[in-house]
Amino acid sequence: MDTNVKTSITKPVLANGLKFSAAAGKALNLAGSFWFLVAIAGQWIFTYYVMALYGGSTIQGNLEVWGDVLPHGIMEGDPMGNAALAGHLFLAILIMGLGPLQFIPYIRNHARKFHRLNGRMYLLAVVVTSIAGLYMIWTRGTVGGLIMHVGISLDAVLILLFAYLAWRYAVARQIKIHRRWALRLFIVVSGVWFFRVGLMLWILLNKGPVGFDPETFQGPFLSFWTFGQYLVPLAILELYLFTRDKGSAVGRFAMAGALLVLTFAMGIGIFGATMGLWLPRI
Ligand code: HEM
Repeated sequence: MDTNVKTSITKPVLANGLKFSAAAGKALNLAGSFWFLVAIAGQWIFTYYVMALYGGSTIQGNLEVWGDVLPHGIMEGDPMGNAALAGHLFLAILIMGLGPLQFIPYIRNHARKFHRLNGRMYLLAVVVTSIAGLYMIWTRGTVGGLIMHVGISLDAVLILLFAYLAWRYAVARQIKIHRRWALRLFIVVSGVWFFRVGLMLWILLNKGPVGFDPETFQGPFLSFWTFGQYLVPLAILELYLFTRDKGSAVGRFAMAGALLVLTFAMGIGIFGATMGLWLPRI
């Protein structure tokens, strides 16, 4: 074939291919940002609840309220456990209130000092909160059985590990790798929030508590979700990162569509948790 004819055919095909690929990248980026915005909104509602309930009752000097909500609130003769709980709740406000700001590119690029300071605070807060959580779980217990204790403890271990890796790569100025570990850290730190959102989505979809006993808080669904609360979002994050960096254009469009569906489901769970768990208590 004449080379001029060949180029006149391949050029538009190539140009269309590039346009399709760029559109796929844009779609995935937009879907990711939308997911993140909905997640932040949901985490800030949870943060507001923690401030209003635990902060409000502390200011009023009415700490008995904690025991109405938690399986173990302020307990007589357990100063260490009480301090761990108070520290855990106070740091939860910082973690969920300020932590997500680390992932907003505009802030990262235009307020570097804030990013570094907030990042150090976030790392310290998640480490202390997780250790306090582990202490409470294994000295006071929580709802559910041993499997739930193990599930949330593994989350704490992953938080400590990912926090170390995110910090290590930030110090080494390996920013690409640092960002990946920071994203993974954000997901495992959000496990306790995913737990509530996922649980309420499940209850709404099934029109009631299915797959677990609401009295003992035990059953196959909770045995799965105590690990799923962080392993499922972590697997989705890995798929997202892989598709974004190495996926085909079709794969990116598919991932963007899947993210939109997941965001919709998460929105329903946030609505359920807000109306069923948080608003009624404050
Ligand atoms: C790092 C992210 C975490 C955040 C932001 C967080 C936040 C919270 C919040 C807001 C509460 C009050 C719950 C409510 O009023 O419904 C709470 C309670 C509690 N958290 Fe965490 N938490 C985190 C991680 C953990 C981990 C990793 C563990 C255990 C290893 C843990 C153990 C507990 C315990 C024992 C309670 C007392 C309530 C209960 O017994 O269920 N938390 N946490």
